[in-house]
Amino acid sequence: MVSPAGAERRVYVVTGAGGQLGRALREEFAEDGVVALTRADWDVELPLPAGLEPVDVILHAAAWTDVDGAEDDPQGAAAVNVGGTANVAAVARPVVYYSTDYVFDGRKADPYLESDGPNPQSAYGRTKLHGEAAAGERAWIVRSSWLYGPTGTNFVRTMLRLGEERDEVAVVDDQRGSPTYVGHLAAATRQVLLLPYGVYHVSAEGDATWADFAEAIFDEAGLDTQVRRITTAELGRPAPRPAYSVLRSEKGAPTLPHWREGLRETIAAIRAGAAAE
Ligand SMILES: NC(=O)c1ccc[n+]([C@@H]2O[C@H](COP(=O)([O-])OP(=O)(O)OC[C@H]3O[C@@H](n4cnc5c(N)ncnc54)[C@H](OP(=O)(O)O)[C@@H]3O)[C@@H](O)[C@H]2O)c1
Repeated sequence: MVSPAGAERRVYVVTGAGGQLGRALREEFAEDGVVALTRADWDVELPLPAGLEPVDVILHAAAWTDVDGAEDDPQGAAAVNVGGTANVAAVARPVVYYSTDYVFDGRKADPYLESDGPNPQSAYGRTKLHGEAAAGERAWIVRSSWLYGPTGTNFVRTMLRLGEERDEVAVVDDQRGSPTYVGHLAAATRQVLLLPYGVYHVSAEGDATWADFAEAIFDEAGLDTQVRRITTAELGRPAPRPAYSVLRSEKGAPTLPHWREGLRETIAAIRAGAAAE
């Protein structure tokens, strides 16, 4: 498609446009042609509805993201993450498929690179890994981690709510990763599109445990809530999670700002949203 000025103008379709990353992608690509499809517009478990022919690139942010829920209903998770991705690939346009650090088992002690072999421990991780294959040949597989932003369900928003209600919050201190701001990931997606198809690791600079991250959230938000550091076993969630899942690229994937910078932007955006209400 050619814009009136003659420059190439791509039209992007965003799936899962109501999710936290989907919203960030919608904003990032707002000045391009963007067709933002929520689940109501396109349930990816079904083929693309007639009349919604996308033009250039599909940014596939729709997914089953309930990690614990996937343990109870792995087929439901696979229907979205694998079957849904196959439906996206069937549209026969280049796809950006967002994948996860949970494809790794977490037994390394230094960052996971694209050449490291996946070994998912959870049903969610397995469906996301199979989804990578379902995305087809014309796909950028963008693995990221611990996503958060000003909307949706995420750790930052949960901690801000708990921090308002409680003096102390118990948080896991034996899982280490890179909390990644969806706005930074959306912006980096533009750079990924300039790379050859393939797998890329795109996570924030720096790493933290969930407990470190919670302390930073309370600090940035000016809350004096205390963090009690606990173990994964103490928390007792149904799905296993990697103890270590920091992602780095050996393939020239875009680097992102530090997670703390993303945290500041997120808290500022939440406050701006609250002020506007
Ligand atoms: N969250 C993380 O920490 C994390 C980390 C690494 C990678 N990722 C990956 O990044 C991507 C975006 O995640 P996110 O955090 O933005 O997730 P999210 O906020 O849960 O958004 C996912 C979106 O997908 C939609 N969806 C679910 N099933 C669908 C279906 N059958 N058809 C169409 N839409 C459907 C959801 O709609 P409803 O609200 O109606 O269910 C939701 O709007 C996903 O691929 C995820 O696996 C996430």
